[in-house]
Amino acid sequence: EAIKAEIRAAKAMNAEQLEAYRMKFISKKSVVGELFAEMRNVINEEKKAYGQLINEVKVLAEEKFQELIDKVNSHQKESKSQDIDLTLPPTNISVGGIHPLTATRQRIIEIFERIGFNLSEGPEIEDDWHNFTALNFPENHPAREMQDTFFIEKNPDIALRTHTSSVQVRVMENQKPPIRTLSPGRVYRNEAISARAHCIFHQVEGLYVDENVGFADLKNTLYHFAKEMFGKETKVRFRPSYFPFTEPSAEIDISCQLCGGSGCNVCKGTGWVEIGGSGMVDPNVLENCGIDSKKYTGFAFGMGIERIAMLKYQIKDLRLFTENDVRFLKQFKSML
Ligand code: PHE
Repeated sequence: EAIKAEIRAAKAMNAEQLEAYRMKFISKKSVVGELFAEMRNVINEEKKAYGQLINEVKVLAEEKFQELIDKVNSHQKESKSQDIDLTLPPTNISVGGIHPLTATRQRIIEIFERIGFNLSEGPEIEDDWHNFTALNFPENHPAREMQDTFFIEKNPDIALRTHTSSVQVRVMENQKPPIRTLSPGRVYRNEAISARAHCIFHQVEGLYVDENVGFADLKNTLYHFAKEMFGKETKVRFRPSYFPFTEPSAEIDISCQLCGGSGCNVCKGTGWVEIGGSGMVDPNVLENCGIDSKKYTGFAFGMGIERIAMLKYQIKDLRLFTENDVRFLKQFKSML
């Protein structure tokens, strides 16, 4: 009975203690084993009763052994899932980075926000009015072909917007001057994809409408932008141009960021690179949007975000922005 009590009370937490139990109660040399060895000293008449007794002990010892094995096993399983060493240094986790176009857009927004421009946006699927007609593109005028348009529907025309100038119209239709707004966004043109052109790209539109806004304001705003974006030494040049929605109009060039103006492949030896178009908002456009063109004047500009990013980070192929090659994207990981 004393041995039975001892067996019942036995505990084992690990393999070593299990082995100790086995040695003590199961093996040949265990207390139970010794009881069996005693058998030969027991007189014949009592052998049967003695045998029954020690058999009970043996069965009890074995049952308990199984129970202890099960306990130790389940305990080990639990501890495996719980024992995570929080003091170990972590393995490297691969996280994404900021896309260079996102970083560039963010930087452009930052620069213009500081001089009082707010943000606005419009739909990428536009109607003819907002993309063309309100912007003074005459019907059937070749100016419409300046932009190779992806049409979704004809009559009435619905198309993927060819420029962010459509947002100018939406803002002016809904707000009264003074207006100082910046509209970044995706635009679409039916163009062959190459290192310099894509059918999907990004523009950022700027619009400033108030009393007494003049061309000098346009020039100084873009001088400020160029210096903030590319550095103090950057020069800006305005080249006379034509857009139906601005008069006068000018293309915006900046001194080449690769050769500093001395001439290279990117600026084709001219020292200048075009980053967008600009001009004074045509009075017809103001009137189309319900703004009194006698009282108010304005300037607008539209710049290519890809072009700006390419100059800033010396990227030579526009297609890299949309190919999602991690070797390219990884280089911008530390930005912002
Ligand atoms: N929308 C013109 C383009 O895409 C750029 C522009 C914007 C020109 C605003 C003048 C004023 O080429």
